Amino acid sequence: MHDPRLGRHRAPVVGSAQGRILEIGFGTGANLPYYPSGVRRIEIVEPDAMLSQRARKHIADSGREVISHALFAERLPFDTDSFDTVVSTFTLCSIAQVDQALAEIRRVLHPSGRFLFLEHGQSPDPRIAKWQHRLTPLQKRVGGGCHLNRPIRTLIEHAGFAIDSELVAERYVERLPRIVGWFTSGTATPMKG
Ligand SMILES: C[S@@+](CC[C@H](N)C(=O)[O-])C[C@H]1O[C@@H](n2cnc3c(N)ncnc32)[C@H](O)[C@@H]1O
Repeated sequence: MHDPRLGRHRAPVVGSAQGRILEIGFGTGANLPYYPSGVRRIEIVEPDAMLSQRARKHIADSGREVISHALFAERLPFDTDSFDTVVSTFTLCSIAQVDQALAEIRRVLHPSGRFLFLEHGQSPDPRIAKWQHRLTPLQKRVGGGCHLNRPIRTLIEHAGFAIDSELVAERYVERLPRIVGWFTSGTATPMKG
């Protein structure tokens, strides 16, 4: 997750975070170096109650204040319209009830707020997608609940977000097997009402 080759993809996504920021599925904090220098405080949601030693070191090294909430994204304890930015990188694959989590992300985002995402998911190539479907049960067992076959763009749109067509990028990334290498990144705004 800290591979510098992934950092090239994280930077343009995380680099536009601003205002009150919530990161879903913090992991070991691989996004921390990529927030704008002016961002001093980030709130995070991570089910593991104890952040790993690695995560704590990355927080200390970042010099940023990280407010940690040990809970699942499917149920967020925050007020409606209370965040300017929600960030998710390589996390929508792992959330058990991803539709519920996206509904919560939409709820807590301010109408003018933005959802910034970078995710791997279902390939548009049916031959690759077939293998993604076949291997997802195994991947879930060995990969912490990770699904290979989630249609990321469709999931986000069906949750009531408008994806900025100028900022969205969908592509295979270099040097990754295609079953994990179809990345979708971009910016989405909540459609309220
Ligand atoms: C593959 S890791 C990605 C970590 C980090 N976002 C990154 O880009 O390196 C997936 C993360 O999602 C978290 N996660 C799994 N289920 C979750 C849930 N229901 N709500 C929030 N986070 C969850 C895991 O604990 C893990 O930290």
